[in-house]
Amino acid sequence: MKIIITKDYQELTERASQIVISLMEKNPQAILGLATGSTPLGLYARLVEKYKKQVISFSQIKTFNLDEYCNIPKLHPQSYYYYMHWHLFNHIDIKPENINIPKSGGDDYDVLCQDYNEKLKENIIDLQILGIGNNGHIGFNEPGTPFDKETHIVELADATRQANKRFFNSIEEVPQYAITMGINNIMQAKKILLLASGLAKADIMKEVIFGGVTEEVPASILKTHSDVTIIIDNEAASKLK
Ligand code: PGA
Repeated sequence: MKIIITKDYQELTERASQIVISLMEKNPQAILGLATGSTPLGLYARLVEKYKKQVISFSQIKTFNLDEYCNIPKLHPQSYYYYMHWHLFNHIDIKPENINIPKSGGDDYDVLCQDYNEKLKENIIDLQILGIGNNGHIGFNEPGTPFDKETHIVELADATRQANKRFFNSIEEVPQYAITMGINNIMQAKKILLLASGLAKADIMKEVIFGGVTEEVPASILKTHSDVTIIIDNEAASKLK
């Protein structure tokens, strides 16, 4: 596991974008695994900027998102479909058919999970970008999720709903369920880039880096992957010293 500590969020964004851009330059058909949340926002803004300056093109890039809330309309401002289009896809030349976000409508969630798993098996992710929850979740794989899980429906932990309520009018509006890639899917990626920023992530980053590999800390599994880079800003790294 390679750990890069940056002086602030801006430098974290810069280092992360260098990794993504260099992969896209080497492999214009790369398959990217994408995350939502506040942490990758700077990275997406930087990628849009580089696209506008014609440094990179997404015309042959494919993307797979980690997760989506259940029973949320695509165009709800808090859906991850909306987030991805608002912050990235609407501003770049990606082909709509190359965008993959777990579907969350309809009533047969088993079929939706199976379909996403099949697509992931046909498309091995070259670079998976991850944020981390305060409780150690990656995607929406909450503490206690078996490491061998593939795409599945999850009941969101209270800690996650509390952390995400800042985006909604009230806690009642935060969805209770989500569809998420499983840890097994995430671990199939050839390369993984985990980003963590801010004091709220300091305790969990200490646990991930110094603690054991346990399903109680989902991100701890990353220590067993052969190509993981963690970029962490000074605040999130404040308990590592
Ligand atoms: P954040 O969320 O980037 O908004 O901190 C990360 C996560 O919950 O996975």
